[in-house]
Amino acid sequence: MVQASAPGKCILFGEHAVVYGQPAVAVAIDQRMSVELSLSNDWRIDGMSFHPDRHPHVEALKQRLWDLGPALSIKISGNIPPASGLGSSAALSVAASAALRCARGRQMVDDDWAEGWTAARPGSIYDGPWTSSKGDSVVNGADCVDEDECAILAHAVEAYAQGGRASPLDSSACAHGGCIVLSDKIEDNLNWIYTRSLNGVSWHVHSVDLSNIDDVWLVIGSTGIHAPTSEQVEKVANLIKEQPGKMREIETIGIVSRRGIAALMNGDMESVGRAMSENHLLLRSLGVSCPELEVLISAAAPSSLGVKLTGAGGGGCMIALTRNPKMTSEAIELAGGRTLISKLASDGMKIDNDDKAPLWNPHE
Ligand code: PMV
Repeated sequence: MVQASAPGKCILFGEHAVVYGQPAVAVAIDQRMSVELSLSNDWRIDGMSFHPDRHPHVEALKQRLWDLGPALSIKISGNIPPASGLGSSAALSVAASAALRCARGRQMVDDDWAEGWTAARPGSIYDGPWTSSKGDSVVNGADCVDEDECAILAHAVEAYAQGGRASPLDSSACAHGGCIVLSDKIEDNLNWIYTRSLNGVSWHVHSVDLSNIDDVWLVIGSTGIHAPTSEQVEKVANLIKEQPGKMREIETIGIVSRRGIAALMNGDMESVGRAMSENHLLLRSLGVSCPELEVLISAAAPSSLGVKLTGAGGGGCMIALTRNPKMTSEAIELAGGRTLISKLASDGMKIDNDDKAPLWNPHE
């Protein structure tokens, strides 16, 4: 058996404004998706026959990493609620990429990769299947798995499953963990890790080290309402078309995000919280909050450093930054929300079991 897992994410700053080039900040959360692979007589997912159209992410990864490979039984588990803006599909894609790479091994030439994707060599990963060349040695198991490769693959298959549109925010946060900043320019003072381009759009991806921050938690409150991201993005686009002055809100979100990032880097959590609450007021003024989110946000505010909706809005989830996770969580639950508690920036993808790797040697 080969098993890998990856965290979900939530957006601390900059949702919606990122569509117009402003920076967005996402952090990995403690909740994870896990993918377990074992050899099987036929393709199965959670014991049922595998239907590519029902699992487009897995199908796209299968084409890229397991083309012609033997049938697998895939078990998916996890505690990230689906379709709630917490990155469940990106976490699944990252975990599945890691598990498939671990199960297949990697051909090497002169101690360098003979196959695979890195930010330095993007190749045609976004366009479709790929075949590798034969190397002079093979690395198997956890040692051949690479965060950057999982992030690229997850971005490619998210784009495939969403008709060509996906920013790398989720895939990068779920692969690397910690705190990820996306922007349309390379941000001074941040650690730029790579630039991704898809369909003529480029995003510069940075990481922020939050490993020194403790004694503060995120409480995520779900409204239980599903509002598709595409509809919320369109709502903002229409608002800006009708009222061009609303572009000021977008620009101000960018300023608030940058202030929030600086506060994060200084470990000044009171300022981080204030920036989050300010970000929320601007999102509200863009029309993407809703009464159910406002109820949860008001309930969480008294025990929190900052509160805001997270992700596309219109439903979905809110987040509270708090030193009292129990009290904040209870307040949100009393107001009718379901809660999850997480550290501020959790670990990235992991191989949890590689005892049986490799499950296939494509060059035998
Ligand atoms: O709800 P999520 O996690 O899909 O976040 C959407 C973030 C937006 O800025 C609203 C859209 C986007 O593509 O960045």
